[in-house]
Amino acid sequence: MLKLSLIGWLLCSLAWRTTPTSCRQTRPAPSIQELLASQLQSYMDTRARPCENFYQYACGNWQLHQQPQSDHKEESPPHAQQQAQQQPVLQREQLEPSDTLAVLDHSLNRQLELLLRRNGSAEEASVAPELLEQMRSYYRACKRLKPYNLKKYLQLVQPGNGSHWPLLSRSQSQWRPETFDWLTTLGRLRAYGLNGVLLKEQVLPRWDDAASYSVYLDKPSAAETAPMGEGAIIELLLDIGQTKRVANELARQVDAFERQLHRLQELEDDEGAKEMQLGYLAEELPQLPWLRYMQQLHAVADDDDDDGDGEGDVDLLSTLIIQHVPYMRALEQLLQRQQPATLCNYIMLRLLAFLKQQGPAEISRVECVASLRRAMPLAASWLIGQRFHVASDEPLIADLFARLKQRFEQLLAENRLQLQPPIVQALRDKLLAMRLQLGFVQPNASEQVEAYYARVQLNAHNFYGNQLALLRLRVAQSHALLQQENSNNSESLSDMGYLVEHWLSSSSSPLYVKPRNLVLLPYGLLQPPVWHRNMSALQQHAVLGFALAHELLHGFDSSGIEYDGAGNSMGPSEEIAANARFAQSLGCMQQQLATGSRSLNEKLADYEALRLVYETFFGADMLLDRKEPRDPLLPQFSQRQRFFISYAQFFCGKLQGLSLQASQHLEHAVDELRVLQTLANYEEFSREFGCERRTKMQATQRCRVW
Ligand SMILES: *[C@@H]1O[C@H](CO)[C@@H](O)[C@H](O)[C@H]1NC(C)=O
Ligand SMILES: *[C@@H]1O[C@H](CO)[C@@H](O)[C@H](O)[C@H]1NC(C)=O
Ligand SMILES: *[C@@H]1O[C@H](CO)[C@@H](O)[C@H](O)[C@H]1NC(C)=O
Ligand SMILES: *[C@@H]1O[C@H](CO)[C@@H](O)[C@H](O)[C@H]1NC(C)=O
Ligand SMILES: *[C@@H]1O[C@H](CO)[C@@H](O)[C@H](O)[C@H]1NC(C)=O
Ligand SMILES: [Zn+2]
Repeated sequence: MLKLSLIGWLLCSLAWRTTPTSCRQTRPAPSIQELLASQLQSYMDTRARPCENFYQYACGNWQLHQQPQSDHKEESPPHAQQQAQQQPVLQREQLEPSDTLAVLDHSLNRQLELLLRRNGSAEEASVAPELLEQMRSYYRACKRLKPYNLKKYLQLVQPGNGSHWPLLSRSQSQWRPETFDWLTTLGRLRAYGLNGVLLKEQVLPRWDDAASYSVYLDKPSAAETAPMGEGAIIELLLDIGQTKRVANELARQVDAFERQLHRLQELEDDEGAKEMQLGYLAEELPQLPWLRYMQQLHAVADDDDDDGDGEGDVDLLSTLIIQHVPYMRALEQLLQRQQPATLCNYIMLRLLAFLKQQGPAEISRVECVASLRRAMPLAASWLIGQRFHVASDEPLIADLFARLKQRFEQLLAENRLQLQPPIVQALRDKLLAMRLQLGFVQPNASEQVEAYYARVQLNAHNFYGNQLALLRLRVAQSHALLQQENSNNSESLSDMGYLVEHWLSSSSSPLYVKPRNLVLLPYGLLQPPVWHRNMSALQQHAVLGFALAHELLHGFDSSGIEYDGAGNSMGPSEEIAANARFAQSLGCMQQQLATGSRSLNEKLADYEALRLVYETFFGADMLLDRKEPRDPLLPQFSQRQRFFISYAQFFCGKLQGLSLQASQHLEHAVDELRVLQTLANYEEFSREFGCERRTKMQATQRCRVW
């Protein structure tokens, strides 16, 4: 039955791997090639004109073919239902997978859910049974929530120094502002994972020696200081049981503060990054008693049964790298002028927003798995690798990556930019050193992953406690990287800790890690329609090949060139930036940015990746006889046309674009515009579809860098 929706088939095929009997069919199942050919046609709106709007042409009927994703919600107790009614349709809407990546993650979550619900079989018990049990505890506690009550967290985590949250004091007059110290509070909450609120503290690979780590102190990013808006504040306050009157009043105050804070982003960093000892920082920037923050951070992180207001040991001789000192000074001035209660409320609201995002968006099985993947990213990646990783596919994917590298090496040798030979050599060295890694963690690293979680004991009846314990663990583990420099055995583990801490490992989106010169491909992405070993080579190139090429190109975008092959920020970026042709090409892309993507580097990666993967597959010599035999399953398209259709269909989705999570991570433009601009920029596309000059799918100016 060819009409079988691919998604239905996909679930079946994944289920098949764990339960071999559930998908047996009486007649021969269609091959993957047949399924993909029928899917490709079903998504297309062939009434649309490919040279006018190729996205509509390739994706116009995508939405029609998405099955309603019923999450087989449990019968919830009466007050949970009320809660659900208070937060109407809008929230439900967000939970529908809105694009290919979200569909993949959703189906992955459903598979994991089946696995966690079943009691351990003998086969499972042999690998890391404790770890699976911990994951089950988290999951069960999540399902028992009725409903997700953010106020519980405020009872468990206090601002420190004996202070309380103003809103939870019995009356406003009982709150004692003199005990509240914002830096103490931020240090405490940092230990629970809160970051990017007023300040940002991270453990990152050192710029000059990426194999070791340093503490970086910085201002929050512009996205992090962007005001939440009164509506979002009021919603959070109602969530924790405040009255409308109180919520409105508070939202006004906090909103006014957020706007002032956001304006500090305009300050230039004319002092640059500085490295100094903690003791010296106290003299250099006395307004910012950083020591208090660090003591709190370590006190909570080191203390296994946190209750305490103790102070952690902090070495005054340890160093940190501080950036945006002018911001820090201005921040302190701004905070001086605020009511302590407003400031404390602001911090509390940001904490609530952070915790809300960590938890399940609703109490359903699939959402509890999604929340598990956010809370235990390392364990979840490990489990996905255990269950869905097909070891025999690895050489195929490695080969695809190697051929992309080979073609890019030729492009570097052609040297369109006419760079000096040593620069070309440095770029080539970087390319050759670039690695591909499947999964955040190797499936055989069970012992290390178990060791990572050994310090926490999760409880199937205490969701809030679990959540806080896991958040603390992640922060403690990322700070433990500072001590790990010289230990022999844990190199790969330290990398795991770093990777999961800094990337959204709960999503299947691929990524490029600059300080590691590494392309990371989560196992979750290696499912149809993105990947299957039986797919045609064309399909493999057009979808997974494009994704790999896109990430590869991030190593050579305007920020990637700052990093060398070892991941140190010592790449030849100044020399390249000084090249007139390079500047001109970036300028060309910049012009197209006004209407499209938020980020120049995303544009660069898209444009150059499409060319790279196309030339890798079809060969670079465009004068060659281009009469590849047509596919009998899709005789109406030439192979080259089919390549562009498959490429475009990866981005099919609802028109609002990528899911919230993915867009935060990828900074990708709304998908439609992204596809249109990328194709219009590529002359091979217009040639293949016979687009006349002046049609929409022909850019007036084409941009190319490498
Ligand atoms: C993939 O191909 C192999 C051999 O060609 C075949 O045995 C297998 O059933 C195919 N799998 C799918 C899902 O089409
Ligand atoms: C799973 O195991 C628990 C005890 O470990 C038991 O109480 C429960 O009934 C089992 N459930 C199923 C479906 O076998
Ligand atoms: C802690 O609270 C005490 C009052 O209980 C106050 O005197 C002191 O200044 C506070 N410490 C900080 C760092 O604010
Ligand atoms: C895991 O497998 C990889 C190869 O896939 C190997 O290089 C590595 O040493 C293995 N690690 C452990 C801990 O066994
Ligand atoms: C590192 O390995 C060397 C020998 O290979 C050993 O002598 C040393 O104790 C190890 N250090 C640690 C921290 O494990
Ligand atoms: Zn990207």
